[in-house]
Amino acid sequence: MPYTITLLPGDGIGPEVTEATVQVLEATGVAFTWERFEDIGAAAISEYGTPLPDHVLDSIRRNRVALKGPITTPIGTGFKSVNVSLRQRLDLYANVRPCSSLPGIPSPFRDVDLVIFRENTEDLYSGIETYDERLEIADSVARITRRSSERIIRFAFEWARRQGLKKMTLAHKANILKVSHGMFLRIGQEIAGDYPDIEFNDRIIDNLCMQLVIRPTQFEGIVTTNLFGDIISDLAAGLVGGLGVVAGANIGDDCAVFEAVHGSAPDIAGQNRANPTALIRSGEMMLRHLGETEAADALKQVLYDTFAEGKYLTADLGGDCSTSEFADVIAERLQARVAV
Ligand code: NAI
Ligand code: MG
Repeated sequence: MPYTITLLPGDGIGPEVTEATVQVLEATGVAFTWERFEDIGAAAISEYGTPLPDHVLDSIRRNRVALKGPITTPIGTGFKSVNVSLRQRLDLYANVRPCSSLPGIPSPFRDVDLVIFRENTEDLYSGIETYDERLEIADSVARITRRSSERIIRFAFEWARRQGLKKMTLAHKANILKVSHGMFLRIGQEIAGDYPDIEFNDRIIDNLCMQLVIRPTQFEGIVTTNLFGDIISDLAAGLVGGLGVVAGANIGDDCAVFEAVHGSAPDIAGQNRANPTALIRSGEMMLRHLGETEAADALKQVLYDTFAEGKYLTADLGGDCSTSEFADVIAERLQARVAV
């Protein structure tokens, strides 16, 4: 039986990297039926009056798994981020972003291997914002609840235990935000007691950023709140070759949506230049989530071998390989491997 997966190509470079990823995933030999929706984001507003129509959410709820390209969010005005709405409405509370050095890829470090666990539903992204026009005072509420803190921290420890991570660092700003981050830290310390096999420590976020840049190999798992997780994800991507190579998964109790860390990259959209690796590796995470470990391992191996060879690199990695050429190479090599 093929897996039925909701496919959201998104906009900007989304359709290009999605096409590449679908091609590569199909080359693993695992069978998929894609339920594809282009009408999401700005494109959906004129027809449905909302950037996130219900039929898209219904499809994800039904299939329980989606693969998603990036979706542009207007800056400072306009509709609420579809990416944030999707995570909140499907209660995808854990955003998992593995960040590892790749062979042959120019980057400041060689042995980075860490996973960021970002709380994905609240904090400054709660959507609680008010503006007093007369006084010109703007408030954005960084709501943090015990429930969401407990479940992301427990999720991080469980993932760490399954994947053999030996260390978990909780990143916070509890020195200043004594109430909200104080609670987040306390909950982390409580839960850490249930995982004596995993070393636990905490870092104030500013120091963590410096440590990440100086000596990233000291970290294995980093669990943190929504905004900090968003920011350090891009920082960590920069340690291993950039946004073109870092994957992600949004996971809840009922469904999971796999998407890269990067956005819609309007500066290179439509040019067949984007690096599809980040979404391909999100697809690899999807394969693991589906229990298709062998296919995921094969895909990872082909990617690593190809990077090590250094011949097929996209522009962001200093090469001249196009999005579609890269996808062709990976798909061809995977097919050859599956055929053996
Ligand atoms: P971005 O991540 O789209 O791009 C940042 C820089 O990285 C750009 O120079 C871009 O060319 C480069 N880049 C990103 N992905 C790449 C890839 N696969 N291959 C090669 N180069 C790549 O961030 P930016 O420009 O700040 O945001 C653009 C739009 O994307 C905004 O509307 C933002 O809201 C949205 N966004 C959406 C996300 C999502 O759908 N989950 C996540 C992040 C941003
Ligand atoms: Mg981000």
